[in-house]
Amino acid sequence: MSDPIISCKSLTKTFRSGAEKLKILESVDFQLEKGSICTVLGPSGSGKSTFLAILGSLERFDSGVVRVCGYDLGTMPEKSLHVFRKDIVGFVFQFHFLLNDFTALENIALPRYAAGIPRAEAWDSARKLLNLVGLSDRAAHYPSQLSGGERQRVAIARALVNKPSIVLADEPTGNLDAASAKEVAKLISELPTATGTTVVLVTHDAELAALGSTSYSLKGGALECLRS
Ligand SMILES: Nc1ncnc2c1ncn2[C@@H]1O[C@H](COP(=O)(O)OP(=O)(O)O)[C@@H](O)[C@H]1O
Ligand SMILES: [Mg+2]
Repeated sequence: MSDPIISCKSLTKTFRSGAEKLKILESVDFQLEKGSICTVLGPSGSGKSTFLAILGSLERFDSGVVRVCGYDLGTMPEKSLHVFRKDIVGFVFQFHFLLNDFTALENIALPRYAAGIPRAEAWDSARKLLNLVGLSDRAAHYPSQLSGGERQRVAIARALVNKPSIVLADEPTGNLDAASAKEVAKLISELPTATGTTVVLVTHDAELAALGSTSYSLKGGALECLRS
């Protein structure tokens, strides 16, 4: 692979539980090509969220090298990591974390304002993304007026508003009924083509994991390639 957008070399992560050391990731090697979608399948507790949090610099690691978009996450100071999280990464979680007192459009535009972009431009970006996720007619609706699947589509639009190079999705359909889950999965699978972003999605659901152009399994601290 020429110049991967994400690469991990000998990545090791442990957590302490009292006197015990929990080995979560053991010498993990991983590479991902720009513009692709990769899924990581693993049972609950296998370390999927931890792996994703490391790629998004929300979690530190013990040893190894992790490079994302040219950033060396192990050696960067906290101040630069803040910029990395804001400019490079979009996060989508199992729960949507939308703000209840703001409309769908406002929820999407807010991170753009926060990044210092003028109001008109932020609203314009938010409108385009509402359109992309198929919710143009729901701009003025509050989260409580949307279905679970619609809320998650707004959360995906919000994750995209600062034009992230990579989107990290942690069980993004975990709270949804089967039909909404299918719609959200389809939307995520289209993101690389629609927006040029690279996606890493972790899940315990084999059906969802099948949407990856590359796919891995995480078990017992080891990341094994299922499909490349
Ligand atoms: N901050 C923490 N301190 C101690 N143990 C943790 C911490 N976060 C996660 N763990 C443990 O690490 C393991 C992997 O967790 P996680 O990455 O959330 O797994 P998954 O997302 O695959 O369910 C679990 O056994 C969990 O209890
Ligand atoms: Mg998890």
